[in-house]
Amino acid sequence: MVIYEHGSWRSRWSRLWKRLFHIIGPNLSVRRTVNILTMAADRAFLRPQVRGRPFTMYLEISSVCNLRCPGCLSHDKSYHARLMPLEEFWQILDHYAPYLVDLELYGWGEPFLNKQIFDMIRYAKRCCLFVRTSSNFNCFEPGDHERIVRSGLDQINASIDGVSPDTYEQYRIGGSLEVALDNLRKLIETRKRLGAKRPIVEWQFIVSRINYKEIESVKKLATETGVDILRLDLPFSLPHIDEVNDPTAELRWLADDPDFRQWANTFRPDAYACARACSYLWSSLQVDAEGQVNPCPNRIGSKVQCGLATSRPLRDIWNQALFVEGRKLFAAKPEAPPSFHGPCRECKEGMQPWKAIWPELVDVSPERHENIKQLDCPPKIRPRDAS
Ligand SMILES: C[S@@+](CC[C@H](N)C(=O)[O-])C[C@H]1O[C@@H](n2cnc3c(N)ncnc32)[C@H](O)[C@@H]1O
Ligand code: SF4
Ligand code: SF4
Repeated sequence: MVIYEHGSWRSRWSRLWKRLFHIIGPNLSVRRTVNILTMAADRAFLRPQVRGRPFTMYLEISSVCNLRCPGCLSHDKSYHARLMPLEEFWQILDHYAPYLVDLELYGWGEPFLNKQIFDMIRYAKRCCLFVRTSSNFNCFEPGDHERIVRSGLDQINASIDGVSPDTYEQYRIGGSLEVALDNLRKLIETRKRLGAKRPIVEWQFIVSRINYKEIESVKKLATETGVDILRLDLPFSLPHIDEVNDPTAELRWLADDPDFRQWANTFRPDAYACARACSYLWSSLQVDAEGQVNPCPNRIGSKVQCGLATSRPLRDIWNQALFVEGRKLFAAKPEAPPSFHGPCRECKEGMQPWKAIWPELVDVSPERHENIKQLDCPPKIRPRDAS
């Protein structure tokens, strides 16, 4: 078992290896290779107008969930609640797959509530994509473990953030630790019984103030269950639970250990969690359960709908003003403050150098979003963001 830990070289190398060999390796075509290299160059120079297409796609095949984790959009009244039909999935994949290498089959919701997921995975594998999904492991039906293995799924994340029911249920509200662990064990047993190597099973334990005390126990339990990867380095995100602007949130959610505090102090207007440019804008996008393009799978991005995923060529979708102006926010040496007031401006995921130069202009009041209505293809902003 590999443990992904914050700041560990072993963890960084094994993740790089995974990306290079598991994701990119077997799925490369000339077109995909050229596209990735093109995008790497665009990203290196932080070009606002890009020449390539997204090579990773987050596809929200379900935006409904059986659990109620705090602040999750899947149970927010302003968000849609839909299972994507298989026919729509086919159309979207036909449009995107020639340039994709990596399909992340989840968004805000539980993907296994969409019972067509197994056919979707099979179709994506026929398109030669690395297919990964993330689940709360609380809604499998009898036979699903075998269906998962037989579908050809490459990787599955088990979102289990506790090793005692009390800890687990404080965040995964409505979930059962016993059920999640039982499903995890059954999946690994089934994979062994069928003599399969996939899916790679990753136990994702998002470290917070609530479960910090269980880090040593989860390492032991993960080894016993036989998962391939234990992931301890995914930062607990305050925007994810809609508390990024609350200065008291870190006291409730973030552990005291600096390794798990990337989202500390981010209530400040010019703050950021990661000292790099946003990676989504030069690599990926999300298609939500209504078939609409969103700039990214994060909370702010998921609330912006930029048109039907199959309505326009990919390059046009990715070079519409919302994306181009969003990328400009990451210019290393901006000559003037940005005049555009789109959603990326209020995002605190990556470092936007202009905010340190003109802190007085960091105005994130939602009414500024009015500006984006003037765009050629105005994105739809959900009511809570636009009001
Ligand atoms: C919205 S969930 C949808 C998939 C599935 N329902 C699940 O929970 O795994 C997408 C991803 O967000 C992760 N997530 C949930 N809460 C989070 C938080 N506070 N910070 C960072 N990631 C979080 C989940 O573990 C999951 O991998
Ligand atoms: S994080 Fe996942 S399991 Fe939790 S409510 Fe959201 S979609 Fe459901
Ligand atoms: S800047 Fe933020 S909102 Fe914009 S695409 Fe990146 S992560 Fe999403």
